[in-house]
Amino acid sequence: MPFDRRVKIAPSILSADFADFGREIQAIEAQGADWVHVDVMDGHFVPNLTFGPPAVKAFRRHVKAVMDVHLMIAPVDPFIEAYADAGADILTAHLEAGPHSHRTLQAIRGAGMKAGIALNPGTPAQAVEPLLDLTDLICVMTVNPGFGGQKFLDMTAKIRALRSLIGDRPIHIEIDGGVDPTTAPLVVAAGADVLVAGSAVFRGGSVDDPAPYGQNIRAIRDAANAAA
Ligand code: DX5
Ligand code: ZN
Repeated sequence: MPFDRRVKIAPSILSADFADFGREIQAIEAQGADWVHVDVMDGHFVPNLTFGPPAVKAFRRHVKAVMDVHLMIAPVDPFIEAYADAGADILTAHLEAGPHSHRTLQAIRGAGMKAGIALNPGTPAQAVEPLLDLTDLICVMTVNPGFGGQKFLDMTAKIRALRSLIGDRPIHIEIDGGVDPTTAPLVVAAGADVLVAGSAVFRGGSVDDPAPYGQNIRAIRDAANAAA
C-alpha cells in the first residue's frame, strides 16, 4: 500500500443493504470507491452493534481495494489478530478505547496491518502527538461515533493542528461522519486526504441501480478536489 496524499473516498458499508454486502461492495468499487470502510461496533464503547471478525472476513472476499476497518470497541487488543486474519489492510482503534494506545498501535503493526488511531470529537489533536511515529492514519471523528447519518461537527481547527503536528510523516488524515459535497471541501482544505462517507454515498442508489453511488462519489470527490 504505497503512501498517497490525493483525496480518497471511503464509503462506509454501514449505510449498505445489510442483506447484500457482497454485491454492495462490488457496486461501490465499480462506481469509484478508493477504499471500503468497515465500522465495527461493540454495544459498549459505542451504543450500537455491528460486525465481528467472521463477517469482516466474508466482506474481504469482495473487496479488491483497501479494506479500512474502524474499530469502535473496547478493549481492542484481544481482537487485533482476528481482524488481521479477517484481512484488514488498515486497522483503526480509538484513542479513548483504553489506557494503552501505544501498545495497541505496536500490536496492529506487528500483526502486519497499517495502524490507525481515531479521535472522538472531544479529544484534542495534541493527545496523539506521542504516538505519531507508530501511526499510519489518524481518523478525526466529525460525529460522535455509533451511527450513520448524523450531522457534521466542525473539526477543522483540529485537522489543521494535526496537519502541522504530522509534518512530513506519511500519515493519512481521515474524516469520518457527515461528509458530503458541502463538508468535504472544508476538511480537505484543512488537510484531510481520506473521506469516509456512508449516507452521502448510498443515498438514492441500490445494487440494482448503482449509478447514483457513482454520482454521489464523484460529487464528493469533485467538491473535495476543488478545495485541495
Ligand atoms: C460512525 C461511523 C461512520 C459512519 C459515517 O460511527 O464511524 O463511518 O458510517 O456515516 P455518515 O457518512 O452517514 O455520517
Ligand atoms: Zn467509521
